[in-house]
Amino acid sequence: GFIAGIAAAASREPAAGDAPAATVDVLFGTQTGTCEFLAGEVVAGARARGLGGRATALDAITPEQLAGLSHLLVVTSTYGEGEMPDNAGLFWEALQADGAPRLEGLRYSVLGLGDRGYDDFCRAAKLIDTRLEQLGAVRLHDRVDCDVDFEEPAAAWTAAVLDRLATETGATGATETTGATRATGATGATGASAASPVGAGGPAPGARSPWNKRNPYPSRLAVNRVLSSPDSAKEIRHYEFDLGDSGITYAAGDALAVVPVNDDTLVGLLLEHLGARGDEDVDGRPLAEVLRTGREIRTPSKDLVAALAERAPAGELASVAAHGDPSDLDSWLRGRDVLDLLRDAGSAAPGPDELLPLLRPLQARQYSISSSPLAHPDRIHLTVASVRYGTAHRSYEGVASTYLANRAAEEPGVGIYLQPNASFAVPADDDAPMIMIGPGTGIAPFRGFLHERAARGAAGRNWLFFGDQHRRTDFVYEDELAHLRERGVLTRLDLAFSRDQAEKIYVQTRMRERSRELYGWLEDGAHVYVCGDASRMAKDVEAALLDVIAGQRGRGAEDATRYLADLRRAKRYVRDVY
Ligand code: 2AM
Repeated sequence: GFIAGIAAAASREPAAGDAPAATVDVLFGTQTGTCEFLAGEVVAGARARGLGGRATALDAITPEQLAGLSHLLVVTSTYGEGEMPDNAGLFWEALQADGAPRLEGLRYSVLGLGDRGYDDFCRAAKLIDTRLEQLGAVRLHDRVDCDVDFEEPAAAWTAAVLDRLATETGATGATETTGATRATGATGATGASAASPVGAGGPAPGARSPWNKRNPYPSRLAVNRVLSSPDSAKEIRHYEFDLGDSGITYAAGDALAVVPVNDDTLVGLLLEHLGARGDEDVDGRPLAEVLRTGREIRTPSKDLVAALAERAPAGELASVAAHGDPSDLDSWLRGRDVLDLLRDAGSAAPGPDELLPLLRPLQARQYSISSSPLAHPDRIHLTVASVRYGTAHRSYEGVASTYLANRAAEEPGVGIYLQPNASFAVPADDDAPMIMIGPGTGIAPFRGFLHERAARGAAGRNWLFFGDQHRRTDFVYEDELAHLRERGVLTRLDLAFSRDQAEKIYVQTRMRERSRELYGWLEDGAHVYVCGDASRMAKDVEAALLDVIAGQRGRGAEDATRYLADLRRAKRYVRDVY
């Protein structure tokens, strides 16, 4: 924890003359590991400037400890609909309380990571920034809110705040690696990243390798296999990327970012609608190429929706936007893509020059890795559901999932880079039990975890809750799981096939049925992991977990909430949900 970290650092304090001019505390809130990684980069940047630094999860510190700090940098993403990320919720609750301490002595700055496509853009960062000010802390630099392309603004913020601190405190260049300057944030990955400070022009975040968003590794897609049955309502595929001589080393639980390429057919339809040939010049590149590799051409951006609602009053979009409430607009937009909107706008639709700025830059997609480097050091496996749906008029496909399914294997190289997620990992203690809850493609990281534990010969017990619509068509990796059961690696497997009977059976149904054993595992020190759908499943699973704890302890709901909060703080309840 934080206290232990401070104590450990203090006990290794270097001789007086070597002590850093000031120590920067970098607190991170993270859902997918990106902010944790960035926090490590900031610490490295602090060190490069002769400052001390340590990175800590927001939840690992109390407001009282906060009041004792001098220089605070907060790096946080926002989760779901404007919520705090999983490891910042407890911090936020305590900071909001009436009894929260005054923070007059604290100087701070906040960096937010988010997505302008959402209404609650960077809400967690905004809330923390405002509350710190209310409590008397003084900003040393304005908050910076980053959109999906966060690397440059994050690097600029890092350089600005650290340069400022270094000047103010009279720091004089790099300190040696000492106890006092080590990241105590707790993870190997954070420490390992220390060699590449964001603010010092080092490689952009994203990897234990030179490959990143701006420079993805062109990997060969070696395996593309359908796991689900042809008559399933879903199409779930297993992919294997060849790491070749990339030097990429990954951990089970990390994510892989895949750089997609848009579908030529859709690009063709858009060009046709725009009345363009495709070879028109756009900043030195042909229009067709920009649409294929540079823009989001499926999901309409908020800017596009707003622009069309205004300029095409005769369109259906404009009338829904004008007369309905926001949820009517959301439901009208659901399933419709850019082409639908352009068609709806008719002759009022913008031409290529006006359209391009209204389309967002094409983003890489992140998928939870489903392999372990101990079992597959040379390949990264993914388990991905292909997004395909149709209406009476058109059929639609996702962007990256169908690129992988339909086209990627023919490419000489598919752009990939690692997105480390240090918090979502098998326990360091091989004897600790694991409870894994992952319906649908949520199974992905747990396949990696089980392979990892098998390869390590870890003695800890492993319990998997898995489910999907139908056992016959959707039981992915069935043989593999049976084999892991036989080997004794998978101790318990509870299955929830939701549509094999009249009433719905979900993973949380099974959790409730097994309340006593589940609580017993928790009391034995089990780590609980949840992966998959965030909007409904993860919330319902959390409610079930609280019910199980309350039921078994018999001390009420508040006691159960505290018990789960303790698990979270101990990093024994972690989620990879999206
Ligand atoms: P359903 O589609 O039959 O409702 C993977 O998608 C599995 O998760 C499916 O069996 C799906 O069931 C199920 N699922 C849907 N909503 C869920 C929820 N709120 N909690 C848990 N599982 C859910």
